[in-house]
Amino acid sequence: MGNHSLFTKKQINPEQFKNSPLERHLTAFGLTAMGVGAVVGAGIFITPGIVAAKYAGPGAMLSYLLAAVVCSLAALCYSEFASTIPLAGSAYTYAYTVFGELIAWLLGWALISEYLFAVASVAVSWSAYFQNLIAGFGIHLPKMISTAWTPGQPVSINLVAGLIILIIGFLLSNGLQESTRINTIMVGVKIIVIAIFIGVAVFYIKPANYRPFLPYGGAGVLSGAAFAFYAYIGFDAVSTASEEVINPQRNMPIGIIASLGIASLLYAAVAAVLVGVVHYTKLNVGDPVAFALQFMHQNWIAGVVALGAVAGMTTVLLVMSYGGSRLIFAISRDGLLPAIFAKVSPKTHVPVANTWIFAVITSVIAMVVPLDKITELVNIGTLFAFATVSLGIVFLRKMPFYSELPTGFKVPLYPVLPIVSCLMCVLLMTQLQAVTWMVFAVWIVIGLIIYFTYGYRHSQQGQKH
Ligand code: ALA
Repeated sequence: MGNHSLFTKKQINPEQFKNSPLERHLTAFGLTAMGVGAVVGAGIFITPGIVAAKYAGPGAMLSYLLAAVVCSLAALCYSEFASTIPLAGSAYTYAYTVFGELIAWLLGWALISEYLFAVASVAVSWSAYFQNLIAGFGIHLPKMISTAWTPGQPVSINLVAGLIILIIGFLLSNGLQESTRINTIMVGVKIIVIAIFIGVAVFYIKPANYRPFLPYGGAGVLSGAAFAFYAYIGFDAVSTASEEVINPQRNMPIGIIASLGIASLLYAAVAAVLVGVVHYTKLNVGDPVAFALQFMHQNWIAGVVALGAVAGMTTVLLVMSYGGSRLIFAISRDGLLPAIFAKVSPKTHVPVANTWIFAVITSVIAMVVPLDKITELVNIGTLFAFATVSLGIVFLRKMPFYSELPTGFKVPLYPVLPIVSCLMCVLLMTQLQAVTWMVFAVWIVIGLIIYFTYGYRHSQQGQKH
């Protein structure tokens, strides 16, 4: 025990794909709904104003499209992995098979930061829009329970954000089928609401608002893309569902690519319309969609949009909480985290303890940390994971077991596409702030300490050596 190499690789046995304790019930449609559910949320209702005002100007849609290109390349690489190695754990499991245990753990640890902080940050935005919505009915919550504390202010916690996460945890712990039904309905509501916004706002566009189109040049578009990237986070959660999908070789790539395509269209359209309605210099606000509607004096639609935003962000919370708990399930099943995280309830087929622990931790983060501190952290962990997954494809095809794996989706233009994908992710990472890099470095050091004091000694692969 504990005397194996840090680069010990996970052995893949196609029989394993059939023996999961989880239940297969997700179709391509369900997966796409899940993807759109995970992706389209706080990002569309909160980031486009900042991308336009601070980075890209009226060319904000170009930042969204660039971020979409980076995500699509990474998505193709994810799809190849997800259809060839359909095991829970997503990128973490892929890295385990090609790069070995240490890199897999670090990647898994980076992804845990993605899911923890994404859920916490979206819950904070959820709380803001929810309060907006009930304010329309004259209900105002005391500050003490509706916002995180900042130094110099009276003590307060964002109880609303914490509670919504616990409610989602409760839904998920009762089984996935109910949750996917709720998800599909809410995804429908969210798409309709965004379409209504675009349909109304298009009539208020003033062409003069598009000039100058790129006030901060190409560099602005690039840093805007690194920030806008947040809005696309979540499609990778789809690939964590591999063990719960019917015919994953076919359905997994469809689910990932379709959800990303739908999200890109919605974002580019919203960004384009927004900067046409309100001059980009006025858009440095946290609720640009609601702001634009007030600007147009369309207050009744503002209410509908607040409702759509709340529904939209609920699905992000649902799918990202699901993805996070399945990732931790996979890591724990391999022995790198305590066994309690891999315990599945025989009744609901859900890792119940894991779901609750994840919910409680994210709920505490959401209650006490202000939003602006966590958004970029979500991006850096995810970009690190995407870069590694992309490079992983180059190695995957050279692995001795590759020929025995089921033939599924293959990345076109191999090996150019995966290499370009990796480089683009690294390029976006370089655009993030120094403080984000520092916090990420601390996170990785904590991860290394956990690995060397726990994971290395308890690893299932290690026990075989
Ligand atoms: N992509 C997710 C959202 O925008 C995190 O809400």
